[in-house]
Amino acid sequence: MADSTDSRSPTTRTMAMPSDTNPSGDIFGGWVLSQMDIAAGICAGQRSQCRVVTAAIDGMHFYRPVKVGDILGVYTTITRIGRSSMDILVEAWVRRDRIGIREKVTDATFTFVAVDDDGKSIAIPAKENVPDYVKEKFGDL
Ligand SMILES: CC(C)(COP(=O)(O)OP(=O)(O)OC[C@H]1O[C@@H](n2cnc3c(N)ncnc32)[C@H](O)[C@@H]1OP(=O)(O)O)[C@@H](O)C(=O)NCCC(=O)NCCS
Repeated sequence: MADSTDSRSPTTRTMAMPSDTNPSGDIFGGWVLSQMDIAAGICAGQRSQCRVVTAAIDGMHFYRPVKVGDILGVYTTITRIGRSSMDILVEAWVRRDRIGIREKVTDATFTFVAVDDDGKSIAIPAKENVPDYVKEKFGDL
């Protein structure tokens, strides 16, 4: 889980741009959600080594606004693996004005499902059957 002194690399990192704002000048919640879905999809795809789909998003909380120029880093942690589904804790943090204070802006649990080319659920491979970089990256799960 990320914290304010976290030294892990985020799954994705990007800058909030003026085109992502609402009429008040704050960044759209939907843009942040989209960035989190992308990061969770990368995480789920790497662990399952196949196509994945978002099945559910639970407990999304927006704690702080995101502003233009903030750098948004999205951290992902797999918290459960089922037959074809997995839960991923997704946390979004910002670094204000590119270099300033670091704050957590939102988190949620995303459920992704591994699917075949026809969109039917398929089993997530056992840990011993995935590439080494996946073994190293995702700990016990
Ligand atoms: C996700 C999806 C493949 C599941 O289809 P399904 O017919 O329910 O598949 P299954 O019954 O085989 O279930 C597969 C797994 O998904 C889980 N699951 C299904 N619906 C779920 C939901 N709403 N929330 C959480 N998990 C769910 C099941 O518990 C099961 O987990 P397990 O294999 O680890 O035990 C299907 O609902 C789908 O394609 N949804 C649309 C996904 C999508 O397009 N997302 C992007 C939206 S823009």
